[in-house]
Amino acid sequence: MKVAILYGGESPEREVSLKSGRCVYNALKRKYKVKLFDPSEKNFLKNFIKFKPDCVFIALHGGIGESGAIQGFLEVLKIPYTGSNVLSSAICLNKIICKKILKSSRIPTPPFIIVENKIKNLKIPFGYPVVVKPASLGSTIGVKIVKSEKELMIAIKEAFSLDEEVFIEKFINGKEVTVGILGNEEIEILPIIEIKTKSGFYDYKAKYTPGESFHIIPPDLPKNVIKKIEKIAKKTYRVLKCSGLARMEVIVDKKNNPFVLDVNTIPGLTEVSLLPDAAKFKGISFEELCERILKLGLEKWEKKIKK
Ligand SMILES: Nc1ncnc2c1ncn2[C@@H]1O[C@H](COP(=O)(O)OP(=O)(O)O)[C@@H](O)[C@H]1O
Ligand SMILES: [Mg+2]
Repeated sequence: MKVAILYGGESPEREVSLKSGRCVYNALKRKYKVKLFDPSEKNFLKNFIKFKPDCVFIALHGGIGESGAIQGFLEVLKIPYTGSNVLSSAICLNKIICKKILKSSRIPTPPFIIVENKIKNLKIPFGYPVVVKPASLGSTIGVKIVKSEKELMIAIKEAFSLDEEVFIEKFINGKEVTVGILGNEEIEILPIIEIKTKSGFYDYKAKYTPGESFHIIPPDLPKNVIKKIEKIAKKTYRVLKCSGLARMEVIVDKKNNPFVLDVNTIPGLTEVSLLPDAAKFKGISFEELCERILKLGLEKWEKKIKK
């Protein structure tokens, strides 16, 4: 079977994606005829079509790779692909839409307000610190924790320079955990990881510099809280119609109340990334994990064409 791995792309997460793509390539090369393709390269389309892939492993993060655009392109070409479909990818990439759906499904997510273009009469219904975020970026790009109105204006300006939509979220002081999930109709929840950072803010540097963040399995939380987080993560996966894989980010406040922060439909896939690390803890090797993701993509496709 021929598998095209898509990596790189033009999003701000290009560098991470290049690493994920290479790791997936090494994991699958023994069993499959694999080839790496970067959609931002000049002859991408020609070379991709010429390869005639039987399946596409999408290792792109952010931008068109995680937004449903590449997924739609592959649907048009009738090529099976890994991960979530067009709709689910699009919902999860836009944090404002995603939070609205979570809220209406009674899944806890931090309170937020959308920043309209007129920022003069901004009324924030919660106190400082607050978190300013662009709606559709990842890797903490443009995310700012702010403590005053003056800082707020600067952060909003910066966020608007990166994205058309910006929102302000209540800052939740607590533990940050992440939950990886694999599956289509049947889902498997991976061990929850607590993320510890030196600064308390899981920013770009903490995410990708060795020694700047630590994974703690299991998290330092009571069993009933862990169960609650698992339940919320599963419900989130269903409500947002995720398939294949996803990794949710949850903040647990001082009173042990979990809040869903972020849903990644194409989480980092290097051997030291969070979801692969959680899988490893459960005895699933990186090679097995990549093959599982690939097979889930094919399974989803077969079910879809039968309908
Ligand atoms: N409401 C919040 N309260 C506390 N910390 C937050 C909040 N929102 C974001 N953060 C911190 O910022 C990081 C990045 O925010 P997130 O919403 O996950 O954006 P991204 O998609 O860029 O990862 C989180 O991992 C967390 O450390
Ligand atoms: Mg995040």
